[in-house]
Amino acid sequence: MSTLKIGICGWGNVATGLYKIAKNNIESIKKQGNLDIEIVVIGARRDNPNCKPENVIIERDIFNVVNHDIDVMVELIGGVDVAKDLILKALKKKKHVVTANKAVIYNHGDEIFACAKENGVKVLFESSVCAGTPIIKLLTEELSANKISKISGMLNGTSNFILSNMEDGAEFQSTLELAQKEGYAEPDPSFDIEGMDAAHKIGILSSLALGTSLPPDDFYVQGITNIKKIDFKYADEMGYTIKHLAVAEQNSKEVVLRAHPVLIAKDSYLANLKSVRNGIEVETDLLGTLHLAGSGAGQESTASGIISDLVHLANSSEEHLKAASNEKVILSEFLNLTFQYYFYIEAEDIPGVMASITSVFADKSVGLETIVQKENLDENFVPIVIITDPFKEQDHSNLIENLEKLDSIKSVRTIRIEQD
Ligand SMILES: NC(=O)c1ccc[n+]([C@@H]2O[C@H](COP(=O)([O-])OP(=O)(O)OC[C@H]3O[C@@H](n4cnc5c(N)ncnc54)[C@H](OP(=O)(O)O)[C@@H]3O)[C@@H](O)[C@H]2O)c1
Repeated sequence: MSTLKIGICGWGNVATGLYKIAKNNIESIKKQGNLDIEIVVIGARRDNPNCKPENVIIERDIFNVVNHDIDVMVELIGGVDVAKDLILKALKKKKHVVTANKAVIYNHGDEIFACAKENGVKVLFESSVCAGTPIIKLLTEELSANKISKISGMLNGTSNFILSNMEDGAEFQSTLELAQKEGYAEPDPSFDIEGMDAAHKIGILSSLALGTSLPPDDFYVQGITNIKKIDFKYADEMGYTIKHLAVAEQNSKEVVLRAHPVLIAKDSYLANLKSVRNGIEVETDLLGTLHLAGSGAGQESTASGIISDLVHLANSSEEHLKAASNEKVILSEFLNLTFQYYFYIEAEDIPGVMASITSVFADKSVGLETIVQKENLDENFVPIVIITDPFKEQDHSNLIENLEKLDSIKSVRTIRIEQD
């Protein structure tokens, strides 16, 4: 059995969880993983009252951790710039690196992997996407005989928790507050609810499965802050629910990357994953469609992913990452994509309003699959819900502008519809 000597950098939530789980579960790690873990040194700029490590060297300067006799540095400080410097230092000192940090992999992945290769060591990052849910090893190892054509999923637990509760009738703001109270959302939740967390994760998965760069070129990202409770009611009446979906898809020679809310068929697999769970669908040529779901955050789930990386390091000598291609993979222009749309329009309840709305769509040659006038909101305004035929994204903002120019229109909201 191998023994890995490790140094941990950072002494927060994930690091203390890893320490406790590595101690408590050591017998099963030895038995199932054929690995003994020796935690030699912890880089902690201050003590953490939640965990008092025993017989471990404490370094107050985290950059000193790699100067110890360790095989692997586990980076758990988060953030981008310091984490990148720390990882590069460890790699240059020929230490393997395990990290749970999606931000540093997303922003500097290509540079970090090149440095690892140059120094003959590895960087593993299973916990950076959906914590311990093993999507990274699934893509890089188990599916290596497959051509992957599409990965789509709900990759942010906070957004899925909020949308699931709104589906059951709750308001956005009160659900966000509940998520913060339950510890599912950060005190500053903008990274989650504005879509960036999911964007980072799909960027990493796309680089592994479809060869896009890290960082990728800019792509379309939209959060969930404009979704209203009433949208769920109207979506439900038409056989849909609403999810925040991140998508990486091979599109001829280009790759489509996007992360935004969608209406999705109620009977689909992803529609039925509720609460903080993450869910991913992978489309392959040999195995068809695969589904994976699990906890996307938390001490235990993240420790599970980090320990699986350590087991992998100890038991395999192959390269973990696919060889980087010299050919740059181009991202498809978002404005050239085609979507069907849900439009929610609040209009004055006056004669002729429907005709003026439909003429705006007709002017752009956009067909309407459904147009329904709903119950009045009050004596003056009425909601009108439309499902359009598919049309090019480049006409989307123009259509909204033209609708908003009509005197009878109070507001317009849209959500893209995800096709099966
Ligand atoms: N929490 C989760 O459920 C989860 C899930 C998957 C992945 N992750 C990732 O795991 C990583 C760690 O997350 P966490 O929840 O454990 O964060 P955390 O509780 O905030 O812990 C971060 C630790 O790093 C230390 N640190 C940060 N910057 C430092 C610096 N410049 N120099 C020295 N120490 C520094 C902090 O020290 P101070 O306390 O002194 O600030 C703290 O000990 C992040 O990359 C996160 O994205 C977390």
